[in-house]
Amino acid sequence: MADTLFVVLAAGEGTRMRSSTPKVLHRIAGLPMLAHVLAAACGQADADIAVVVGPDRDDVADCARKSAAGASVFVQADRLGTAHAVLSARDSIAQGYAQVVVLFADTPLMKPETLAAMVRAVRDGAGVAVLGFEAPDPTGYGRLVVEEGALLAIREDKDASEAEKVITLCNSGVMAFSGKKILPILGRIGNANAKGEYYLTDAVEIARGDGLATVALEADAEEVGGVNDRAQLAHAEFLMQQRLRAAAMTSGVTLRDPASVHFNHDTRIGRDVTVEPNVVFGPGVVVEEGAEIRAFCHLEGCRIGAGAQIGPFARLRPGADLSTGVKIGNFVEIKNAKIADGAKVNHLSYVGDATVGAAANIGAGTITCNYDGSAKHHTNIGAGAFIGSNSALVAPVSIGDGAYVGSGSVITKDVPGEALAVARARQTEIPGWVARQRAKHES
Ligand code: UD1
Ligand code: MG
Repeated sequence: MADTLFVVLAAGEGTRMRSSTPKVLHRIAGLPMLAHVLAAACGQADADIAVVVGPDRDDVADCARKSAAGASVFVQADRLGTAHAVLSARDSIAQGYAQVVVLFADTPLMKPETLAAMVRAVRDGAGVAVLGFEAPDPTGYGRLVVEEGALLAIREDKDASEAEKVITLCNSGVMAFSGKKILPILGRIGNANAKGEYYLTDAVEIARGDGLATVALEADAEEVGGVNDRAQLAHAEFLMQQRLRAAAMTSGVTLRDPASVHFNHDTRIGRDVTVEPNVVFGPGVVVEEGAEIRAFCHLEGCRIGAGAQIGPFARLRPGADLSTGVKIGNFVEIKNAKIADGAKVNHLSYVGDATVGAAANIGAGTITCNYDGSAKHHTNIGAGAFIGSNSALVAPVSIGDGAYVGSGSVITKDVPGEALAVARARQTEIPGWVARQRAKHES
């Protein structure tokens, strides 16, 4: 058994989101808020994790199990308050941890080092430690009542006196407890308050009554901001994007206009990559050293090899695997296609379910016709092949190494290596046709 238990509360209804998706599954940088919080907890040494979910929330439970292997999941049947929610995880808590830390799943920007500091506060002797922050607008938050450095109580907004309402040091929701003391404390929390809920925050006064040390730690307001509505969700996204952009630049990536580049939490991007303005990274993108992503590209589930050049205005969809020095130009879409070293798809093309050999050249307006209305088929384009502009390659079809396809061809049969294939109507000219037409109209 580990030394510390993290109890993550994810049973909230989140009604202010006005959503059919539970609040804690709304995403920040492509990852559900709950998963962000669990990632911070999973990063702690010697820790177990318990997650409290609402009734009939298999989706939330699945997310918890997927994000934190080995987490215990508990159901809070009635939503009777945060203390009641923690007690839903009683079976885990009762195992006897040295520290129990309670986190809210709607606080997605929490940093691992802050959680470590909370654990340390209890190790250093606190019975209860609370993570506070200076709120620019404290409305709605529980206020930390501190006197001469000692935390006396937390007063919920709805229960606060006028004098307490002016306090700006607020409860972030993260509270760490001595593992030996937490159950007896929670057992005594009542619900005689403005909301008629069992408030976890009452633990502070009870612990003090028992003569335990109660301390407040302070975090940055931006780290502990909770998400209760879509505007706060957007703000959390904004802050997370700032973090991801800063991390990319620190690791040697040039962002020409950082504010317009949108990362996913798992974007992997190498040194000396340049990203021009207005680029969106969806999930699962790997960009290798020295690649250049020009303006207005949308990328997801793809690998961009070293020194490749993408865009402007390119769309790379899942399974696009581009090797070293590949060039993908404007208005090109690539899906589930392996493109070997130095191949070029420079303009207005769709390459899907395909293999493209090294140094092949795909002319403007080329389409791999991969879908026949019921099934998808593969197109194979050999190394050094040249596909003339505005060609349709009707899959399944294979173009041999070094073959040449004439512009405007509709290719329905395999083309051998080094061969020329032309598949279009022959051009005919009718001499003097225009003059004869004109004469007809004038008479
Ligand atoms: C809570 C704190 C408040 C703090 C604020 C920070 C209490 C009593 N109040 O208020 O001091 O300033 O967070 O954002 O703790 N939850 C359950 N089951 C319940 C009730 C809540 O799982 O029965 C979960 C929610 O999913 C949420 C968290 O607990 O993740 C906080 O609940 P919420 O109702 O949002 O509390 P606040 O009013 O924001
Ligand atoms: Mg809240």
